[in-house]
Amino acid sequence: MLFDLKFDNQTVFSLLDNRDAGFVAYCCEHGINVGNLTKRDKEKQLVSYLLQTVFTKLSIPDVSYTHGVGGQPLFREGIKGSITHCGNYAAVLVSTDPKIHMLGIDLEHFHKRNFTGIAKRVLTIKEVENLADAPEQREREIMSLFSAKETIFKAHYPLVKEWFGFQEAQCVKKNKSEILMSFIGQRKALMGFNMPVSIHYLWQDDYVLTYLLS
Ligand SMILES: CC(C)(COP(=O)(O)OP(=O)(O)OC[C@H]1O[C@@H](n2cnc3c(N)ncnc32)[C@H](O)[C@@H]1OP(=O)(O)O)[C@@H](O)C(=O)NCCC(=O)NCCS
Repeated sequence: MLFDLKFDNQTVFSLLDNRDAGFVAYCCEHGINVGNLTKRDKEKQLVSYLLQTVFTKLSIPDVSYTHGVGGQPLFREGIKGSITHCGNYAAVLVSTDPKIHMLGIDLEHFHKRNFTGIAKRVLTIKEVENLADAPEQREREIMSLFSAKETIFKAHYPLVKEWFGFQEAQCVKKNKSEILMSFIGQRKALMGFNMPVSIHYLWQDDYVLTYLLS
């Protein structure tokens, strides 16, 4: 299911491709001409290029999308999609499978930052307690969980239609490729989502990509 992941200059490549489930995700560096555009315009250009490629693969003619009040991407009837951009990269996850109820994708760059500050803001006390002791492993774990939580948010927001924070989901289990998270807290809108959700994650050099399909 997962193949061809290379953050390779000037290449657009398939990240996930599973026609049975009807989803494809692509990730790319700017092999397209983004020249002197502003950061935002460059992001839009990358995303539109990716969507065009994915939709062509899925034989969908219309690549246009708008945004909902919460900023979530809205595609035409029958299509669900999630978008992320980070530095020179962008990724989209698109599904036409009616059995897929939610999806989310997020990409984060690993570079020198205030990891203690990020952990304090984004992780629960229990998650902090379970972090590795070795500094780089610890920092990468922080970024994996950060990204997983943004993916959870993007996947659930379109259904929940309510903003919810980083302290409202918690990692219950983790292995080399998957993070299992549960919602914690008392938010009414999340009460129906009581099963842990599985978020896939993978590291490629200094980027971590997380995605969720359910
Ligand atoms: C919305 C948010 C998740 C975006 O993540 P980000 O790392 O800042 O930015 P990314 O580049 O990865 O993603 C941006 C894309 O997210 C999508 N997005 C924005 N708001 C969204 C929402 N409410 N629901 C779903 N997708 C959304 C958009 O498609 C946007 O791209 P576009 O504007 O070009 O279409 C983040 O800014 C945020 O508000 N996080 C706080 C909420 C949260 O994560 N809670 C944790 C719960 S456990």
